[in-house]
Amino acid sequence: MAEMRVHRALAQAGVASRRAAEKLVAEGRVTVNGTVATVGQVVTDRDVVAVDGRPIAAEPVRTYMLNKALGVVSTASDPQGRPTVLDGMPDDVRLYPIGRLDINTSGLLLITNDGDLAHQLMHPRSKVPKEYEALVEGRVSSASVRMLRDGIELDDGPTQPAKVEVIDRDAKGGTWLRIEITEGRNRQVRRMCEAVGHPVRRLVRTRYGGLGLGRLRRGDHRMLSSAELSRLEAQAGITR
Ligand code: URA
Repeated sequence: MAEMRVHRALAQAGVASRRAAEKLVAEGRVTVNGTVATVGQVVTDRDVVAVDGRPIAAEPVRTYMLNKALGVVSTASDPQGRPTVLDGMPDDVRLYPIGRLDINTSGLLLITNDGDLAHQLMHPRSKVPKEYEALVEGRVSSASVRMLRDGIELDDGPTQPAKVEVIDRDAKGGTWLRIEITEGRNRQVRRMCEAVGHPVRRLVRTRYGGLGLGRLRRGDHRMLSSAELSRLEAQAGITR
């Protein structure tokens, strides 16, 4: 049974950020099984936690890994009716993607209903590593690799240092690169590669926060194991 501090339970349920949730506890507005909670109190999913007398939603918390297919949008619903990353996912809880991949990018996307985890992972401060494999046009020189590593000036500011290595310089269609970034700016990998004169032809996210796709097939999803979840929470700076 999952044990966690009461403010984390509140944040996980999307009631407030962990800091704001801690304040609610300190203000005496939170009860556990009808008794006013203390800061740092540990609860399990059998406890009834309430804020101002209203129990928080007792939804089970789930986090999945999806191997996103091409042509699928990373939003919960699409006004243009295109397929979304939630199609085919379990619908017993209200899930949403942690960040997004472009419609033309495939690969690893986390999907959750854990508000706290999503918030922490998407926060710029968290610096969670994201690894991509990119097929880019042309033959990429060592000088361009160095530029990508050191940081590129984009129209929304310079990029942070990245890990970049050449997988195959003589590939059909260009050069395959492995790129690891710790930021999550819009279309960042595409814009970085374009800036050094090598537009992206194919882009796959292979790892996120130390998790890899393994044998998960394109379009398939699976629930994260508790070991994987713990690793991810540690990456996000979450302590239970
Ligand atoms: N960088 C991109 O350019 N696109 C993505 O989908 C993810 C990262």
